[in-house]
Amino acid sequence: MKSRASAPGKIILFGEHFVVYGVKAILCAINKRVIVTAEKITENKISIKSSIGNLVSSPKKPIEEIDNQFRPFYYLADKIIQKYNEKSGLEITINSEIPLGVGLGSSSACCVASAAAISGVFTKNSKEEILQMAIDAEKTIFPNTSGADSTVCTYGGLMQYDKKNGYSAIDSENNFDLIIANSKIRHSTKEVVSNVKLFQERNEEKFSKICNEESKLIEDVLICIKNNDLEGIGRNMIKNQEFLETIGVSNEKLRDMIKLSNKFSFGAKLTGAGNGGCIFSLTDETNLEKTIRQLKENEYECFSVKIDFRGLDTF
Ligand code: PMV
Repeated sequence: MKSRASAPGKIILFGEHFVVYGVKAILCAINKRVIVTAEKITENKISIKSSIGNLVSSPKKPIEEIDNQFRPFYYLADKIIQKYNEKSGLEITINSEIPLGVGLGSSSACCVASAAAISGVFTKNSKEEILQMAIDAEKTIFPNTSGADSTVCTYGGLMQYDKKNGYSAIDSENNFDLIIANSKIRHSTKEVVSNVKLFQERNEEKFSKICNEESKLIEDVLICIKNNDLEGIGRNMIKNQEFLETIGVSNEKLRDMIKLSNKFSFGAKLTGAGNGGCIFSLTDETNLEKTIRQLKENEYECFSVKIDFRGLDTF
């Protein structure tokens, strides 16, 4: 029997970095997906195939022995084989349309879709159970993950998150277009986060003032989202980008892409850790094409997405 699942990628709309210091962040799922297929095979092996390579290994290996990029999927497959005391093996195939390593949640989406596809070979689980499995799997490579990415990939839509109150869905039927432009500079989230920590330690008062400003900005964004006020959201994106510039997580390429996007869109900012990765701009049917053209004429890779309201899907 083949079991299949798909999950969307994500972007952080507002609040990256400041969320680490207790400020609220707003995330949304995007309609770029990963599809994972899992199937029982007669041989007692775990086989993982994806566009970035393959892994074939016997079950019951210590997780540290498994190459980083396949570790979460091996972990999920091995766990389920042990749970059901299976003598057969599993073949897992991952197909993704989410660019890798640029803050678009490809790793979380793969964990969520894999948890659903792999467990789906044996039994049906609730979204809550699958999310927990996905977070456990993700922890084999990112022990400190907040689980925010996996949560939004599982449920879809728009979500707010802060350390104290956890996650909650933002009720919205907004149908705006987001244009994501990829700097193609892979970033290390861990490295950028520790640079921000240094900035915070050296500029305590300034940093705490920015966090307060960011909190106010996010409350205003929530009102703008409710009222479908794209100009208001865009204005706040431009302001949020200034805060991100101040704490040192931007660079020349991101600034250039943002400047070009700002000519026609409602606003643009970086998304995720920064110092590479992606920027996004907010548009609707009036300025979508013009913004894309502006970026493409300057040889930047970009694509438009909408909010994904489906989240995890099994079929
Ligand atoms: O690079 P991403 O999209 O995984 O985003 C990291 C978000 C940070 O706020 C910079 C770090 C974090 O753990 O929240």
